[in-house]
Amino acid sequence: MSDRHARNPESLMMSLGHDPSAHGDAVKMPLFASSTYVFPDARTGAERFAAVRGEEGAKGGPIYARLGHPNLVLAEERLRVWEDADAALLFHSGMSAIATTFLAHLRPGDVLLFTGPVYGGTDHLIRETLPGFGVEVFEFDPSESDATLLRRVREAGFDQRVAMVYAETPANPTNHLVDLARCRRLADRFSKPDRKTLLAVDNTFLGPIWQRPLDLGADLVLYSATKYLAGHSDVIAGAVLGNEEAMVPIRSMRVYLGTAAGPWTAWLLTRSLETLRLRMERQEQSARTLAGWLRREAQKPDSPLADINFLGFLEADGEAAATTEIDTNQARIYRNQCLGAGAMIAFAVGEDREDAFDFLDGLKLVRLAVSLGGTESLAEHPASMTHGGVDPEIRTQEGIHENLVRLSIGVEHPEDLIADLQRALAHLAECRAERLVGVAG
Ligand SMILES: Cc1ncc(COP(=O)(O)O)c(C=O)c1O
Repeated sequence: MSDRHARNPESLMMSLGHDPSAHGDAVKMPLFASSTYVFPDARTGAERFAAVRGEEGAKGGPIYARLGHPNLVLAEERLRVWEDADAALLFHSGMSAIATTFLAHLRPGDVLLFTGPVYGGTDHLIRETLPGFGVEVFEFDPSESDATLLRRVREAGFDQRVAMVYAETPANPTNHLVDLARCRRLADRFSKPDRKTLLAVDNTFLGPIWQRPLDLGADLVLYSATKYLAGHSDVIAGAVLGNEEAMVPIRSMRVYLGTAAGPWTAWLLTRSLETLRLRMERQEQSARTLAGWLRREAQKPDSPLADINFLGFLEADGEAAATTEIDTNQARIYRNQCLGAGAMIAFAVGEDREDAFDFLDGLKLVRLAVSLGGTESLAEHPASMTHGGVDPEIRTQEGIHENLVRLSIGVEHPEDLIADLQRALAHLAECRAERLVGVAG
């Protein structure tokens, strides 16, 4: 599909792939609430099936909504252009996108190399589910050298069987960055002449506006489209984008697992992609304001706030340059692979879970809810919520401490958000004072 009038994704989102004259002159593609499609004649029906099977020269068309439908085709084409990928596939959830990708590319005996933390659901899928299908999983520490990692992989007897390197960057919930150039090098190191080791990257936190893993050598980019892509906390969706070769098995597996997004999900996503840049840029701006405020608060004597992790602090010319806390390795990765800081902030509140809970309970405008990337700001407690199912020892190793709070900044006015954070700090102070009285009494 092409559009003669525009080249930039934000312009193409208004028209690409939709011809109003074919749909009652509607400016927007209508919702196709239909599970099956009528063939004009039997030969055309047979040819559409042949196209699904990948037969050369066969012309595709709608058959049955699990295999595809007009809303899906449109949403996928529009999503594809944001990353200039060969193809995009939409799913009913981020988890179904990840699970379908694993089932399409991993076989018993294969090894998945990954580095944490990753989203709690992905962590479960990798550590608990994949081994049950005979896939070995091997975690590496981003700080270990290539030599140490290669030796460990060899000693485990895995070096001939690494089929995929999986990274989530920035990682949920800590905002920790994984070096994608290094992951590509590792994947190439394990590739064999007859089988390329794939690099798959969960780009939910920054993409596609601020991180383009395909440009950095990834084969596949995965999304919880529930988050920024859909952006209004009113739909669950997932996506995979990538080069054609890596996408073919996923497209086929999706048909048989039945994990394609339905018409309503695809329609909502098409709507959301029109405002993707607007939303994400505004959210990032507000997050900068809030993160700066949080850090100034954290520097006050006796502040319960600490370790404010916002990617914008890694920018050399940013406010953080003047501080000593900058992690030079993270700053190097940020410079090499990120185009912006996003709108996620992770930070420590007080000493423990109780302090974090009291802070969270004091928020009024910021909603206490999991998920992220929506128009409304959300806050959660990863150790007991999104990552509550992760082994406590692993949680601690990965920096998901009991006093960690994760904030997703929406499009509200930043002044109101700051007032809300102030309210939460005041609530925490009151609760702490009451606890002291309780202990004394
Ligand atoms: C980074 C990341 N990947 C994947 C998922 C799973 O996506 P979904 O909830 O849309 O299935 C999430 C959900 O929070 C996530 O944060």
